[in-house]
Amino acid sequence: MSQAQTNLILVGAPGSGKGTQAKRLQQEYGIPQISTGDMLRAAVRAGSELGKQASSYMNAGKLVPDPLLVNLIRHRIQEPDASHGFVLDGFPRTVPQAEALDEMLTEQDRSLTRVVVMDVPDAEIVERISGRRTCANCGATFHVQFSPPEKEGVCDVCGAVQLHQREDDREEKVRTRLDAYRDQTAAVIPYYAAQGLVGTIDGNQAPEQVTEAIRDQIRRGKNGAEAP
Ligand code: AP5
Ligand code: MG
Repeated sequence: MSQAQTNLILVGAPGSGKGTQAKRLQQEYGIPQISTGDMLRAAVRAGSELGKQASSYMNAGKLVPDPLLVNLIRHRIQEPDASHGFVLDGFPRTVPQAEALDEMLTEQDRSLTRVVVMDVPDAEIVERISGRRTCANCGATFHVQFSPPEKEGVCDVCGAVQLHQREDDREEKVRTRLDAYRDQTAAVIPYYAAQGLVGTIDGNQAPEQVTEAIRDQIRRGKNGAEAP
């Protein structure tokens, strides 16, 4: 079962381009982008119990407790649209999350294809995040300089006039998010490296070149070997 699937994880600091790339890959590979950040923001907008529990952590730039995320992912990866695979964007973000994902995948007779680490220097991260604009209606992402919408303030994807700066994209929150990445998330890299799954790519190139580097990692698969 797992051979026909592309089960990909994108790991990277805030603003490294996980969401941008996951959206491109979902079209190309016919697998859904599963962004825990987007799912949590939708829960906050809907005022659900999960949203209420998550919002204070998110607004502070801190990680939401593991059990909430593990539950969310357990259900999401079993949806019909993920039967050929998924691209995880923002999960796992701690070693306990990675361990829980491994257990779920084993139970479902599935396995990971590759874990791609997107490497982007801090100075570039700050520039990207400060210029990012997100559509409050559909979640599409733009950048005032690098990828502006065709018409200022209007979302190219859904046409809503709701482009805004995310609450956690303010400078002091970005610093907290970078700390959380270094202190809690970076540890998933050696965890997956021990399984022969990690490929690190240069995320500081044009989006198309980054996508090509990820395609190459997908072709390599486990242990980094080129696919025949
Ligand atoms: P989340 O939404 O996942 O935020 P993040 O990891 O901080 O990542 P971002 O969405 O900020 O960046 P990105 O890597 O997607 O970059 P993007 O493509 O937008 O999480 C938010 C919060 O939710 C967390 O802080 C936490 O509270 C909670 N949470 C979520 N998951 C959790 C979990 N598993 N456990 C616990 N808590 C969790 O690109 C950024 C900008 O750069 C854009 O403007 C884009 O246009 C531009 N850009 C992208 N690529 C390029 C390029 N190649 N060149 C130039 N510009 C580019
Ligand atoms: Mg994102």
